[in-house]
Amino acid sequence: MTRLVYAVILASGKGERMNCGFPKQFIEIAGKTIVGRSIEAFEKNSGIDEIIVVSEPACIEKITEIVKNSGFKKVTKIVPGGVIRAESSSIGVGGIAEDDAKVLIHDAARPFVSQRIIDDCIAALDSFDAVHTAIKATDTIIEAENGKMTATTDRSRMMQVQTPQGFRAGVIKKAHALAKEEGFAGATDDCGIVFKYGLADISIVEGERTNIKITYPEDIAVAEIIAGKG
Ligand code: CTP
Ligand code: MG
Repeated sequence: MTRLVYAVILASGKGERMNCGFPKQFIEIAGKTIVGRSIEAFEKNSGIDEIIVVSEPACIEKITEIVKNSGFKKVTKIVPGGVIRAESSSIGVGGIAEDDAKVLIHDAARPFVSQRIIDDCIAALDSFDAVHTAIKATDTIIEAENGKMTATTDRSRMMQVQTPQGFRAGVIKKAHALAKEEGFAGATDDCGIVFKYGLADISIVEGERTNIKITYPEDIAVAEIIAGKG
């Protein structure tokens, strides 16, 4: 039996740090919206069967239009998201019926995810029930509280996380159900939730420095350069 491979694209944020007057996923980078670019990366990957887009509730029509105008064929659902990312992610994954399906959860705000990263995440799920994308930290990371340094860390062991994060659907659904009972307290990313409840060993796929999360206005110029290279 072939197991389906899903992508869940999280596009339900408001982009407050971008502060551009509308959700940042609709900013155009070299002529294409950020969310359109993210969907396209999964649309063109032959390992992906279906795409679920989790949309900012007021923007469902806008996303529907982008999907139609771009000719994307794999988008089967466009659903309204939640107030925090983990909630949006649980809503997206909730649309998957089969527990043994593979699902890659991806930030719409990371439009430059490569085909190699997507391929590696899908492949890792043959041996692991969860997979993270991460790159080695280049800056030294410290711990701090109330404006004071409280601890050092060993940089050689530090990694910065990206998306996609991949799972067997049953594993991430269970993690989300447990997190929901605690009101998603402290839940930032999906691998973090699976790790918290000890539900799976989490493999790591090497990310890429160009797989940036477009967050602040300064990131737009960098994104234009990355798009120009692509
Ligand atoms: N996201 C989501 N639902 C939320 C919050 C975030 O689907 N309630 C998505 C965003 O659309 C984005 C990804 O999660 O693609 C990563 O979040 P982030 O970069 O923080 O985006 P925003 O929350 O939109 O930005 P900000 O935190 O500056 O408001
Ligand atoms: Mg946010």
